[in-house]
Amino acid sequence: MQTQQSGDERNPIDDEIFDLDDPFKYCRIAEEKSGTRDLATTELVGILPGQHYLINEKILRFDFDTQNNQNTGTISISLRLDASPGCGGIVWPAGQILSNYLIKKGPAYLQGKRVVELGSGTGLVGLTAASLGANKVWITDQKPLLNIMQQNLSMNSLERNCSVAELDWGTSIPHMISPPDLILAADCVYFEPAFALLVQTLDALATKETDILFCYKKRRKADKRFFGLLKKLFSWEEVMDDLNRNVYARESITLIRLSKIR
Ligand SMILES: C[S@@+](CC[C@H](N)C(=O)[O-])C[C@H]1O[C@@H](n2cnc3c(N)ncnc32)[C@H](O)[C@@H]1O
Repeated sequence: MQTQQSGDERNPIDDEIFDLDDPFKYCRIAEEKSGTRDLATTELVGILPGQHYLINEKILRFDFDTQNNQNTGTISISLRLDASPGCGGIVWPAGQILSNYLIKKGPAYLQGKRVVELGSGTGLVGLTAASLGANKVWITDQKPLLNIMQQNLSMNSLERNCSVAELDWGTSIPHMISPPDLILAADCVYFEPAFALLVQTLDALATKETDILFCYKKRRKADKRFFGLLKKLFSWEEVMDDLNRNVYARESITLIRLSKIR
């Protein structure tokens, strides 16, 4: 029976059926696997930001060590978590890895930039960009996530240079969002029916000059279809100046930089 096959053996059409059945299936598998704390996972935990959980408030505080760039000290982002609106209501390792990378690049990389984060979930990556001094950041997601994103924006007092916007991939870009210099996306490749929509939104937002940092976790063969669609409009290369890349590569997580072809 199909359900007894491993992810690698299933054919892509079966994957699509499973997607429609349970859109969060692949996210959950990753979560359950990380519960086993195998060696690769333990190493991954070692490179993620320090985390302090306030159980009563359901708030998780991420402490990023900034000692490797011109600022020394810690940048903290507090997030309210709520899994009820879907998988975006918790924070995924790819989001932490991309945030870590921004922290290591430091404020000089963000200053003066307009930034759009796609599929922000709790907003961690975009809030990190805002706290590093980006000129303007839009954290975006589907409607059910907007409330938690707005709460997280307020909790971190970043309203001066960050806003929440609804952006459902494949729909038109809201007027409030100006063409960005930088697009950020973490763990947005997991639901096959959305692959073409995500490519469509990247295409609508980006020009040849736009920098796009895209952190993804390979979960199954069907993810190749996303890259099959992407390559018609974008080229990409792995980000090599992240000292942690060998650690997260063991968890099948990769950080790439996309460029629009024309
Ligand atoms: C696995 S979560 C990653 C969340 C966050 N980026 C992180 O790394 O913690 C995927 C995110 O993509 C969002 N998403 C999925 N399909 C979407 C769509 N069609 N339009 C906009 N966002 C979408 C989900 O709501 C969710 O927040």
